[in-house]
Amino acid sequence: MRWSQRWRLRASAAVAATGLVVLGACGDEELPQNTLDPQGPVARQLDDLFSPVFLVAVATFFLVEGLILFALFRFRSRGPDDAPPQIHGNVRMELGWTIAPALLMAVVGFFTVRTILDINEVDASGEALAVEVIGHQFWWEYRYPALNITTANELHIPIGRPVTLRMTSDDVIHSFWPPKLAGKLDVIPGRTNSMEVEADQPGIYYGQCAEYCGESHANMRLRVVAHSQADFDRWAADQQRPGLSPEQVAARDAEAGAGAKLFYGSAACNSCHTVSGQSTATIGPNLTHLFSRDVFAGAIFDLDERNLRRWLRDPQAVKPGNRMVIRELSEEEITQLIAYLETLE
Ligand code: CUA
Repeated sequence: MRWSQRWRLRASAAVAATGLVVLGACGDEELPQNTLDPQGPVARQLDDLFSPVFLVAVATFFLVEGLILFALFRFRSRGPDDAPPQIHGNVRMELGWTIAPALLMAVVGFFTVRTILDINEVDASGEALAVEVIGHQFWWEYRYPALNITTANELHIPIGRPVTLRMTSDDVIHSFWPPKLAGKLDVIPGRTNSMEVEADQPGIYYGQCAEYCGESHANMRLRVVAHSQADFDRWAADQQRPGLSPEQVAARDAEAGAGAKLFYGSAACNSCHTVSGQSTATIGPNLTHLFSRDVFAGAIFDLDERNLRRWLRDPQAVKPGNRMVIRELSEEEITQLIAYLETLE
């Protein structure tokens, strides 16, 4: 194969591959983590910066590539001595291609810095809801100090109201990223980083940890559940109820009662998990209202009996590297524990 043939083949392969990648980004399937589909004012500010900067970048790309192609063909070698006139040190041109990009970068830089300052501005109106976010390997803890609520994996917020997240980590660096509502921000042990999120419409907004944090980094997802203010108030009131005592549970349902016995006894779940009014450990997620959630274990599993059973059989098998430790349980014990967990609603 001649050199030029091989070159042409390679070029066609590159073009085809690029085309596939570009087309792959289209399609009309749902894109739950599409950062180009802002659903709140913070994400919209970022999008309003991204779109014009992207257009400028595309225009610059075609201009520069166009000039290169023009020069390639216009001045290509046609014979042994057809060198074009040589120009060195054209002051006008050199000033032009120095000043024009510098101005362009200055304009882009101005709007970028302005957006950074804007989104970092802490809400001063006192209207914002404050939530503490704590990253753990590999799940998210949310505390609402003003409401005295602690929950996990699902961040519930009211719509149309800024929510200030004050974020820190319990172990390694994580990154909080709900793309339709805000940008991403590192969550660092020993440090508190703040960011604001806000949703326009009720709904579930997906996100995930965006900083490699260990074996199950990819299994550290998150959900933001946005409600109308009335629904949010209902949710909050629900979360504030204390848990039932094991005796109350046993009086309602014998199997759940047996599960409670395991939970606070030989399975020792209470040595890591809080159930408000019953246990106070904070190593694992607070389980007081576990069954008010749709997901568990870093928002990777739907909360249902089948998934809980797989989880309780062998947590490491379904989510490698997680910190849940539990003794081996019989199938009957698992059934009882799940019956108890189902009372934590
Ligand atoms: Cu937490 Cu990656």
